[in-house]
Amino acid sequence: MKTSHRAALARAAAGLLLAAPILAHAQDAQIERKVAALLKQMTLAEKVGQLHQLSGRQFTGPTSSNYADKLADIRAGRVGSMLNVKGVADTREIQALALQSRLKIPLLFGLDVIHGYQTVFPVPLGESASWDMDAIRLSAHIAAQEAAASGIHWTFAPMVDVSRDPRWGRVMEGAGEDTYLGSQIAKARVLGFQGEKLGGTDAVMATAKHFAAYGAAIAGRDYNAVDMSNQQLFQVYLPPFKAALDAGAATFMNSFNTLNGVPATGNAFLQRDILKGSWGFKGFVVSDWGSIREMVPHGYAADLSDAAVKAITAGSDMDMEGYAYSAHLEQAVKAGKVKMKLVDDAVGRILYKKFELGLFDDPYKFSDASREKAVLGDASHRAAALDVAQKSMVLLKNGVPGAAATPLPLSRDLKRIAVIGPLADSQRDLEGGWVVQGDRAPVASLLEGLRSHAGKGTEVVHAQACAPGCATLDASALNAAVTAAAQSDVIVLAIGETWDMSGEAKSRTDITLPGQQEKLFAALKATGKPLVVVMLAGRPLVFNTIADQADAIVYAWFPGTEGGNAVANVLFGDYNPSGKLPITFPRSVGQIPLSYAQYNTGRPVTDEHNVVYKSAYIDSVNTPRYAFGRGLSYTSFTYSDLRLDHSELRGDGKATLSVDLANSGAREGDEVVQLYLRDMVASVVRPLKELKGFQKVHLKPGEHRRVQFIIDRDMLSFYNSQLKWGAEPGEFKLMVGSASDDIRLETDLRLLDASKPGHP
Ligand code: NOJ
Repeated sequence: MKTSHRAALARAAAGLLLAAPILAHAQDAQIERKVAALLKQMTLAEKVGQLHQLSGRQFTGPTSSNYADKLADIRAGRVGSMLNVKGVADTREIQALALQSRLKIPLLFGLDVIHGYQTVFPVPLGESASWDMDAIRLSAHIAAQEAAASGIHWTFAPMVDVSRDPRWGRVMEGAGEDTYLGSQIAKARVLGFQGEKLGGTDAVMATAKHFAAYGAAIAGRDYNAVDMSNQQLFQVYLPPFKAALDAGAATFMNSFNTLNGVPATGNAFLQRDILKGSWGFKGFVVSDWGSIREMVPHGYAADLSDAAVKAITAGSDMDMEGYAYSAHLEQAVKAGKVKMKLVDDAVGRILYKKFELGLFDDPYKFSDASREKAVLGDASHRAAALDVAQKSMVLLKNGVPGAAATPLPLSRDLKRIAVIGPLADSQRDLEGGWVVQGDRAPVASLLEGLRSHAGKGTEVVHAQACAPGCATLDASALNAAVTAAAQSDVIVLAIGETWDMSGEAKSRTDITLPGQQEKLFAALKATGKPLVVVMLAGRPLVFNTIADQADAIVYAWFPGTEGGNAVANVLFGDYNPSGKLPITFPRSVGQIPLSYAQYNTGRPVTDEHNVVYKSAYIDSVNTPRYAFGRGLSYTSFTYSDLRLDHSELRGDGKATLSVDLANSGAREGDEVVQLYLRDMVASVVRPLKELKGFQKVHLKPGEHRRVQFIIDRDMLSFYNSQLKWGAEPGEFKLMVGSASDDIRLETDLRLLDASKPGHP
């Protein structure tokens, strides 16, 4: 890309500053002086050492060096950070080696603390369904407390990649498809991980990853190329990163993908112009695992030495298990291919964080055995895990709309409940992927949860029917399950993906239920007993027959340590479900990518029965199975009296939109009131709907509340074809509702042209 073009784009990225004014990333002058003084004492080899990150004993890749060599390198001051070393004993032992080096610069210990450490919280996509920023922040904070008590300084989270492709296994690790919701969650997670202040022993450094656009890998295949317009990049994919940065994220991780032909790791436009340039990021960027060396197979670097030069030039500060900097950077500087000032900048950023964490004062600050014992055993952590797990469950179906009686919640007077299915008594599958601590909190399975929450006179019987994944369904095991079901008042069927079917390198071309689970469902359905499905998964699955035929469906994701109790509370009505989908559930893989925030086209479908020459399929409707924002409750909410105090806005004016929300049902519950907006005519077409605000409101039966949203110019702004951020005069539709496809009330707003008084 030409430098002038890059500069223009970077200026456009500064537009994101308008969306959320940047906090002053004030650096501490005292620390800066210490960094400068230390840099002066360092040899080039020692500087390069700070940029080299190695993995510990437990996790190594094919290119990883021998463990004994790693230890020798640490002692020689040739390593700046370790990942995958955890626990007080191990981190102390390894840190002691670094302190034998000439300058005694302490190591940073990084780890993928993605959704909990000893206490496992729901997978991030699941937690995102809570739309509860306090609960999400608390979960990240507890994860940080536990990890920081176990020698960890730094988590490789949150993943803030927007993704609209459930084939991509890593949708599980993010906040789903939406830019606005994703930005709020990015902020909550960074604040949770980093606590009051870096340096506190209850905080770890956060990492906003994977910079950038990794969630748009072509065809949902992990590590694949990304090709997208800059409008899409700026409008949809970058804002959650900006939100993480504004919340103070200490580090960024780049990504494995190419973006419009340039690997993110070697991408100066992303890392130098946008992140460290117009956004003013002062922390450091770590590569993804081996992503510097992967620029060779990408066809972007001729060899490992070329990769090292390109990566440091583009702003990648630390090389994670890539051995490019350790092998070639010194030589590249000596040969004049890399300026010393670039190396100093990268090293300075890393040293700054080590000072900020207080590691020079006490390298063992986070490795205190008594604190580890106390914090990892803290009972309040389980209570928080239960709370957020309940909040993340999405009730997708509960009988037939409008019917007098609903299958859920279950009565405590039932005689017998049959708990059936491959995941009914599994503990490991409740935790999901990315659990890195070996000695984790004990998990209550769904069966245990239901047994401990059922009424005194209720018998809970169990039949597994098939192993997790349900590759085979043995006739006698199926018969036993059907017999148990036939003798019960209600069936609770626990099915879904196994814990290891989503996450990194877990892309699927077929996202229906694995194995024989549909067959198991059909056999149970044939008993005629009420059939409640609890589905576990790290991504949206496709399950049309079950959606049509089940009596009730609870989407539980992978809910973590307290998952069994959380499901039981939801099924028995001790918790009234409030989760809303953070990602669209398609009807088929053929509809992917699918998002509520789509464009209208010139030939929109207005009548599903007449789609000839319309933007449609001949074998499917366009609508998803379950739309973004969907989620039922055991009570009902009524929206009324939508008011906009000014129907016209000028300049930097603001308007207040308010709506009356009433709990019109019989139970207390929470509703997520969602605000969507459409810019009706613009110089570049805008989506049919974009989420611009939401509020989660708790109401008792009969109670009502006025919910307010402030509408300002920023909310109406977007990137035009010159990538200029701003709002264009004209008509806007404001929509308020319970889901993206369940808009209850709408009104119009006109933005006036500030330059022409009185005229739009
Ligand atoms: C590769 C993954 O892409 C990244 O998210 C993770 O943090 C690193 N491995 C370290 O485990």
